[in-house]
Amino acid sequence: MKGALYSTTRPGGRTGQVDDRVDLTVNEVHVRCAWLDRAPAEVDRLHRLLAEDERERAARFRFERDRSRYIVGRGLLRLLLAEYVGLAPEQIRFAYGDYQKPRLEHDGPWFNLAHSGPVALFAFSHSGEVGIDVELDHADFARERIAELYFSPTEVAVLRSLPETLQARAFLTCWTRKEAFVKARGDGLSLPLASFDVSLDPSSPPALLRTEWSVDEATQWCLRDLSDPKMGYVAALAMRSHGWRVVSRAVPENLHNVIETQQEDR
Ligand SMILES: CC(C)(COP(=O)(O)OP(=O)(O)OC[C@H]1O[C@@H](n2cnc3c(N)ncnc32)[C@H](O)[C@@H]1OP(=O)(O)O)[C@@H](O)C(=O)NCCC(=O)NCCS
Repeated sequence: MKGALYSTTRPGGRTGQVDDRVDLTVNEVHVRCAWLDRAPAEVDRLHRLLAEDERERAARFRFERDRSRYIVGRGLLRLLLAEYVGLAPEQIRFAYGDYQKPRLEHDGPWFNLAHSGPVALFAFSHSGEVGIDVELDHADFARERIAELYFSPTEVAVLRSLPETLQARAFLTCWTRKEAFVKARGDGLSLPLASFDVSLDPSSPPALLRTEWSVDEATQWCLRDLSDPKMGYVAALAMRSHGWRVVSRAVPENLHNVIETQQEDR
């Protein structure tokens, strides 16, 4: 099984060997963005990469669009992880935390994924648990969710102090930062979102500002904004360490050759 599935050209113009694994240094977090709406033939190919429990979960989706997006998300996750661990995508084994955060059962990077509509973001790190969240930049999302129900009193006060035209976007900024944090911890929404504060004012850098359970936990975390106005999404990344940088790459739109090549390689 060959490691590099997509590209033989590495950052910095270096041409990689086809069987290279992707380099992921401890001071990097790799972020990959992908489109989940794919042609049926691609969805079928990705479905073949899934484990039995993932296929069962896919079969339980009520709507075909949700089913195929889930299949593509998990299939791509396997293809991307295969690049780091040197296993075939089908050989990747997941284990799940108390709140269903997936992790690798064997050696390999920490990772996390998020999806919103047709967009998915994946994060990979060798230096610690990582959390990522993405939301399409739709004002409706903010209108449907009431800040007072989810955010801390401090966050609500900052949000309401902003000009009204900026509030929908600031809501999404706050929401994605909070979700990235709870996803990095693995707690998901079992951790009350009002029990910690993040920055959300557009003039402030992304940061975890306070947690109600620790005087110093906030200083340990680093949050990054991954929003992409051209792609139309707001997104955030969280990791419990400092001094790392984000390396972003898109996942190719047409996976046909990639999957074929990968299958021939074994
Ligand atoms: C994690 C959570 C916040 C994600 O919410 P979401 O906005 O619907 O989904 P996102 O697109 O951001 O992320 C989904 C992905 O996160 C990952 N994930 C699932 N549970 C996770 C957790 N506890 N921590 C981190 N990541 C998690 C999965 O890979 C999932 O994608 P997949 O199922 O297609 O593989 C939410 O599902 C949650 O709170 N889960 C915990 C459930 C739980 O135990 N709740 C108890 C009381 S509320």
